[in-house]
Amino acid sequence: MDYREWEQVLSPYKQAVEELKVKLKGIRSQFELEGEHSPIEFVTGRVKPVVSILDKARRKNISKESIEREIQDIAGLRIMCQFVEDIHRVLEMLRKRDDFTIIEERDYINHQKDSGYRSYHIVVEYPVQTFKGLKKILVEIQIRTLAMNFWATIEHSLNYKYSGNIPEDIKDRLQRAAEAAYRLDEEMSQIRGEIQEAQVIFSRKIES
Ligand code: GTP
Ligand code: MG
Repeated sequence: MDYREWEQVLSPYKQAVEELKVKLKGIRSQFELEGEHSPIEFVTGRVKPVVSILDKARRKNISKESIEREIQDIAGLRIMCQFVEDIHRVLEMLRKRDDFTIIEERDYINHQKDSGYRSYHIVVEYPVQTFKGLKKILVEIQIRTLAMNFWATIEHSLNYKYSGNIPEDIKDRLQRAAEAAYRLDEEMSQIRGEIQEAQVIFSRKIES
């Protein structure tokens, strides 16, 4: 496939990412309007670059024809939350929606990866209107706390730097950092009530 053909294949994915970003950011604004703590802190999204798609297909032995079915994260969204409890609230909201169907859930929060990675992943089937009609595409949504995101971002950079072969001593440090991030989430949960009260007072102060 040449560049133009890839553009055509990826266009509904781009559309889906943009639409879902608007929708998920909309949830945050609604909570803000109500003066309530939003379980969504911020949202990011991206379409996987063509080189990464081809790379993953090669790595996982996926044929060109089955790329769209087998690579679930061509369209990817990330929802960042302040507290672990928020992740579960977000999940409840997403499960109730009727603009997409959740087809898979992966709980790397209760089942963290050996690397130390934690996040909750869902894969949804999202219908996009194209000029040829409705096309259902797969979208991976990762839901994580700010602490989990911090860790994952750092670990991802190191993996990139060391081409996936992070030296043992740095791996050990990352494990310890993952534990620290876990404890941070726990501590924050303990004082969640206090923090939220402060935030409501603070936002009233800004408004007045
Ligand atoms: P992939 O081939 O990577 O898609 O694996 P998979 O199909 O088993 O999917 P998985 O549920 O593991 O999620 C893959 C995505 O989660 C990656 O693209 C990353 O964004 C994230 N992820 C998974 N494991 C790690 C990890 O150890 N470190 C970091 N930084 N991110 C991870
Ligand atoms: Mg995956």
